[in-house]
Amino acid sequence: MENNIILTGDRPTGSLHLGHYVGSLRKRVEMQNTGKYQQFVMIADLQALTDNADNPQKIRDNIMEVMLDYLAAGLTPDKTTFLVQSHIPALYELPMYYSNLVTMSRLERNPTIKNEIKMRNFERSIPVGFMTYPISQAADITAFKAKYVPVGEDQLPMLEQAREIVNSFNRVYNCDILVEPEAVLPDSDSCNRLVGTDGNAKMSKSLGNCIYLKDDEKTIKTKIMSMFTDPTHINVTDPGHTENNPVFLYLEAFSTDEDFKKYLPDYANLQEMKEHYERGGLGDMKCKKLLNSVMQEYLAPIRARREEYAKDMGEVLNMLRKGTEKAVEVSNETVNEVRNAIGINYFNDKTFMDKIFK
Ligand code: TRP
Repeated sequence: MENNIILTGDRPTGSLHLGHYVGSLRKRVEMQNTGKYQQFVMIADLQALTDNADNPQKIRDNIMEVMLDYLAAGLTPDKTTFLVQSHIPALYELPMYYSNLVTMSRLERNPTIKNEIKMRNFERSIPVGFMTYPISQAADITAFKAKYVPVGEDQLPMLEQAREIVNSFNRVYNCDILVEPEAVLPDSDSCNRLVGTDGNAKMSKSLGNCIYLKDDEKTIKTKIMSMFTDPTHINVTDPGHTENNPVFLYLEAFSTDEDFKKYLPDYANLQEMKEHYERGGLGDMKCKKLLNSVMQEYLAPIRARREEYAKDMGEVLNMLRKGTEKAVEVSNETVNEVRNAIGINYFNDKTFMDKIFK
């Protein structure tokens, strides 16, 4: 049987924003709706603890927020299994085995880890749990034998590490239990790493440059109208730049030709509008107004779904509880196979017993 398993997840350190949405959520919903996959979506609270050990309240506060964001985006419990990482025993056990197959120097070479050490000024005082989270993330993926991992390109080093672990494990223990995962990237560059509303390379909660899935109409409008654009485009007649311009990058990520027909029929599509902006003669205000119309239309149904689900939080909690129970079962099977492969399943191992009683 062909492997059709998807696993992916998010750290519950805040509500999910447009970066999460175009980077991975939208793909998950698309794949879910093909009906061709078995999908696991994980709230990565253990991973969130690796750099928030002193602030578990933040994580607690965001478990249900992230669940609502998932449902708002269009994931549904009949087609997607929701789980919370801290309640899956396999995700504690597998990293213990995997960590013997990974060297310190390999972890130190991980670009994501390197970058985060720099950003957080960790230097040598980096928590061990943070340093080793790529191993934990490999466990997240392999515990479910996932083949597909919808993520933004910033996660590629994690996938590379997971594949290396899979290969070492299968080679060292002479088996083919673990499955090599592959990333499922968004369809365009602008989605891979959505810029912040301030033009910063990444939309990130700590930079305060996010549009959240749950933002109301007025908040969205305010954020869009005060968005960073091209600083050299001072007068409407000046030629403008579209390549690092958030307004155009967001239009690329969200607008369709249909939107142009409806909201700005001066142009057949985004390409025509870009050309006008680059020539000069198209003002930022007009562009932002279009973006606002597009985003309002895009986000309204997402917000409405969120409000609908939020009416029955008990039911939302149940989805997470039931999904987690199922995930425990599925991942325990992998753990059992892993223990057999290593040869430490003593009490269920006939050859081990035979040797004792011979
Ligand atoms: N590292 C991911 C992030 O920061 C979250 C994550 C944890 C994840 N475990 C995962 C993503 C497994 C994909 C697969 O967003």
